Parts: sequence; structure tokens; C-alpha cells
Amino acid sequence: MNRNVLKIKENVYWIGARDWNRRIFDALIPLPKGTSYNAYLIIGNKSKALIDTVNPGFEEELEEKIRSLIPLEDLDYVIMNHAEPDHAGAIPYIMKIASKAKLITSNKGAKMAQIYYNIPQERIIIIKDNDTISLGDKTLRFIEAPMLHWPETIFTYLEEDGILFPCDFFGAHLANGIYSDEIEDYLVHAQRYWGEIMMPFRIMAQKALEKIANLNINIIAPSHGPIHRRPEIILNAYERWAYGETNQKVTIAYVSMWNNTDTMVKQIADTLLSEGIEVTFHNLVVADIGDIAKDLVDSRAIVLGAPTVLGGAHPLAVYATYLLKALRPPIKFAIILSSYGWGGGAIRQIQEILNGFKIDIVGTLEINGPPTEENIQQIIKIAKDLAKKIKEG
Ligand code: FEO
Repeated sequence: MNRNVLKIKENVYWIGARDWNRRIFDALIPLPKGTSYNAYLIIGNKSKALIDTVNPGFEEELEEKIRSLIPLEDLDYVIMNHAEPDHAGAIPYIMKIASKAKLITSNKGAKMAQIYYNIPQERIIIIKDNDTISLGDKTLRFIEAPMLHWPETIFTYLEEDGILFPCDFFGAHLANGIYSDEIEDYLVHAQRYWGEIMMPFRIMAQKALEKIANLNINIIAPSHGPIHRRPEIILNAYERWAYGETNQKVTIAYVSMWNNTDTMVKQIADTLLSEGIEVTFHNLVVADIGDIAKDLVDSRAIVLGAPTVLGGAHPLAVYATYLLKALRPPIKFAIILSSYGWGGGAIRQIQEILNGFKIDIVGTLEINGPPTEENIQQIIKIAKDLAKKIKEG
């Protein structure tokens, strides 16, 4: 057995790859701790199945790990829980060698397997919700979980061992670690990952959580980050996040050119803190958008600080507002603050971007130049109004 293969249960192995140095995902999401591409091999007494593969570039590592357990040519099934290349990218490599293996996927996954990976139709088995296949002494049940993370996504459940393989769901972008309960700040990473990837699909997440509620789950083995051998911890967190449980917390995201918007948002922060509200503070010039996504998961309000530049809102504030709308956090309230040099318009533009996003804008203030004492008093009032609304829930 390859020294870096991990036995999870009898005849169930982690054979994934750790990408320690990856720093960006989807050309969007920073990965401060790298990530892993978890693949799993299940060896039944009649058939053998590979669950997901690895990112392009790690094919040979995956092959070596499989070969340390079984001849790759003996593989019967490749289960494609999800077609995104970080998990399915090595499927053509594996299936070329494992020439008798069939690809198992959903109806939508079958189309993607042909488009992305040129898998011929005759090598694809399409499964529906709750279908099973037997590997002899091990049975795999498939659960359709659309939009978690793409429309074709399925979960695979190994009945005899109570192991759920949910692909992206319940994951974290961490290259290190084997079991999540061994990592002190695991939930911080999981929350960040939820905010970046799963939060826009909260309704679908609720449906998936309902679907798996009656399964006897001993282990959750996701496709990124460590494995959950105490699944209740991540299940409880996902219940909170999927149903949009928020805290008395405000995320402040702003940019400032000459410290005027900066002064305004800092006054908001100080007033909110004095009202007992938790505040997280992100200067968009240096902010990590993954950190902002993490804070949006359980914040009840957002404060956007957007100065006017070149006749509109500063591009970094536009970007942050667009992301806010795209990530669809359970935020209920907002404040928008702005300072301009000789002509305003930033707040109007931010509001236009937010059009269609259900949010109660508690207050706005657009000022010319540095805030006056009167402006500071206006800001304090807006902050107190927000604090009141946050406390009322
Ligand atoms: Fe980890 Fe949606 O791929």
C-alpha cells in the first residue's frame, strides 16, 4: 500500500491528492491553505469502485495510489459525483487504463462527461435518485443533490459502513489534515468554504440536508479537506448556515481614497461595538474575499463604504456589492456610506446593483469631502438605528 493512502474503513481508502501550493480557485477564490482533491477507492468482494478523481496534474499520483491497492485495470466503476475538473479531470486518464470501467453519473452528468471528457455514451451508466449498485458485500446508493455544486451533482452513500461521499458539500479548502476534529479552527475554514461555494444554493442545501437526514451516517468523506468522523459537528453547522441563522454581527466592507469614507465606516464600527454588536472590518484594498464570504454567512447586516471616483462608485466597492448579490447571504439590513470630491453618485450606483436583492437599507449618507461633526452625528444615529433592528432580529 502506498504510504500516503489512508484506510478509512475495511476496504475503503482515501487515495486523493494534496495541493499545498494552490492559491486561487475558479480564478476567484483565494486558497490561503491550499486544498485537496479527495478520491476514494471502495473494494467490494465482487466489484471495485473509484469515487471521484483528482485535479489535472495529479493523475499519476492517483494511479500510483490505486495500483498500491488493486490493479487499475480491475476497476469496475468510476463514480462521478460532480463534473467539475478538480474532481473529474482525471477521469479520461483513469478510464483509458481501466478499459472495462463504467462511469456512473446523473443524467446531467452524462452530458457533461461527454462534453468535458469525451466519455463515450456506451461507457456511462445513468443513475437516478436512490438507485443502488452492489459491489458484492458493499452497496452504493446515489442521492441527487443538484447545484451542490453544479446541476449534475450526486452524493454517494456506502450503506454497510454508513459513509457519505458528498463531493463538494461538507468540504473545506485545506491541504492539511486527515480528520476535521483534529484541526482546531476547522469550522472557520468550513464556514469560509460554505460562504464562497455553497451559500448561493441555500435552498438546494436545505433539500439535500432533508434527504440525508434519515441516513445512518458514521463518516462524511468530502472531496476537499479533511474527513468527518464526528459528522454531527459539520451537520449542525450546515443546518445553521443553510437555514440562514445569523448573529448580532455586521460585516463592514469599504474602500477609501482620502480617508473620508474610512472615517465614516470607523464611526459606524465604534457605535455598533458600543451597542454590543459584533463587527468585522474589511478594507477592500487588501481584503481577502474569502474572509468576507465567511463573515457574510452569519452576519445580520452589512455596511458598504463606497467613495465616488470617475463619476461612479469606486470599482472595488462595485466588485464587493456584486459579490454580495451573487453570494446571496442571509443578510437582512444594510447601510451605504460615501464621500465624494466634487460630484456624488456612488450610493445610487450601489443601490442599482443591489436591485432585486432583498435587503432593508436602514440608512445612507453621501457627503462632500471629510465628515463634519453634524455628519458624524448623522452616522451615529444611522448606526444606532441599525443596532436596534439587529437586536430585534
Ligand atoms: Fe470541488 Fe465544484 O468542485
